[in-house]
Amino acid sequence: MNVTIIGTGYVGLTTGVALGYLGHQVTCVDKNTRIVETLQSGETTIHEPGLAELLREAKGNVRFQTDIPKLRGEGVVLIAVGTPTKSNGDADIQYVDAAAREVAEQIQPGARLVVVNKSTVPIGSARHVEGIISRNLQTRDVKAQVFVASNPEFLAEGKAVHDTLYPDRIVIGAEDPGAIGILRELYSPLLEQTFDAPLETPRPERYPLPSLITTSPTSAELTKYAANSFLATKISFINEFAGLAERVGADITQVARAIGLDERIGPRFLNAGLGWGGSCFGKDTKAIMATANRYDYDMAIVQAAVGVNYRQRLHIIEQLQQQLKVLRGTTIGLLGLAFKGNTDDLRDAPALTLIEELSDRGAMVRVHDPVAIPKVRHQHPDLAVEYCEDVPCLAIGCDAVVVVTDWQQYKQLPLTEMRRRMRGDLILDARNLLNPEEVHRHGFSYLGVGR
Ligand SMILES: NC(=O)c1ccc[n+]([C@@H]2O[C@H](COP(=O)([O-])OP(=O)(O)OC[C@H]3O[C@@H](n4cnc5c(N)ncnc54)[C@H](O)[C@@H]3O)[C@@H](O)[C@H]2O)c1
Repeated sequence: MNVTIIGTGYVGLTTGVALGYLGHQVTCVDKNTRIVETLQSGETTIHEPGLAELLREAKGNVRFQTDIPKLRGEGVVLIAVGTPTKSNGDADIQYVDAAAREVAEQIQPGARLVVVNKSTVPIGSARHVEGIISRNLQTRDVKAQVFVASNPEFLAEGKAVHDTLYPDRIVIGAEDPGAIGILRELYSPLLEQTFDAPLETPRPERYPLPSLITTSPTSAELTKYAANSFLATKISFINEFAGLAERVGADITQVARAIGLDERIGPRFLNAGLGWGGSCFGKDTKAIMATANRYDYDMAIVQAAVGVNYRQRLHIIEQLQQQLKVLRGTTIGLLGLAFKGNTDDLRDAPALTLIEELSDRGAMVRVHDPVAIPKVRHQHPDLAVEYCEDVPCLAIGCDAVVVVTDWQQYKQLPLTEMRRRMRGDLILDARNLLNPEEVHRHGFSYLGVGR
């Protein structure tokens, strides 16, 4: 099928490359010329495991350009632009609006298109986008058949390719059976898993075929917010119990394992630590509360989840302060800058909050991250930190080292070397990644979260 994707960020690029790999003819459009030029040169613009290899394999089927091509015949247009937070908490849909207008401009007479909101958008956005497009077509006196559908994306950064090729479910919100039919065809290689799995992203063992959920646009839109709010709440829930575990002397990692084995609860998203970050949970929880507010409805659980999450970041600073007493004049090493492992995304990254708080309190901050440093330098050029190319370098002169991001490689820290190079002896494991006994054995004081 002919597919045009508007916005080539984490969602648009992964989706575009995956659909190309599955055999569709994909045009990825982005306004950012740097992104388009890099992708045209065959390099990827984001760090995602398996993406560079998939791009190489899909190359013949995927084009990158800055302008939307003329939209003729039958096809699908996926809008995957950003929907950041406005100052009142609402999702800012100016980029979706612009994309819808630009798409409409390119629709040619006789076209039969499904335009899809893949971005996470406020309730009612399918109808809103439909209005933008139909008004444009009317003004230009173009006769075309255009359906608008909602198809929320559930991929997680760090495993975006995996989640795209092997989704748990695909949700399509559309009124028209014709639109559902076209999208079912688009996703049929995923629904039926008829493609050869790429070497770098193998199909999970005993992977069941994904469910296709067809529903109304409104239910699809709400599904996305409910999913993210639930996952955010699950993390905050375990963090709330971690705080109590610290007080009563329990180990939250064992509590989490014990409750996670209950099938009704499940083990994932029960890692106590610094809390969530990233581009979605913070933004989407705010947006759904703003929506509810307009209906005079109080989302008390989501509100509490947000409060617990950001309290957790300050808790880490307080733990440091309690241990070191005076932060002014200390040197603190932060392991990890990205909001989680396997990504270079820095949006709402806890590391940035820690850097700000520590700097405010007069500490010097040294940082390491396996992949995110170039992005930090580019996006936060004035950040008052010393960048270190490896962990032993980071340890030099540190009074404490904090594990901030759950990069797998931090599970095996060069503890002997770190101990020699550090001034102090504190390791604050804000992701509960390390084995406390082993850390103690190397002569460190160890502090985790809720253990
Ligand atoms: N990142 C995730 O993990 C994730 C997961 C699920 C859903 N989502 C949702 O998907 C949407 C996109 O998220 P993202 O992280 O990929 O965003 P992103 O910021 O990485 O990418 C958005 C891209 O759209 C481009 N763009 C904006 N307006 C454009 C236009 N008119 N024409 C062409 N390009 C345009 C930008 O230049 C940018 O490259 C958001 O609504 C987000 O909430 C994100």
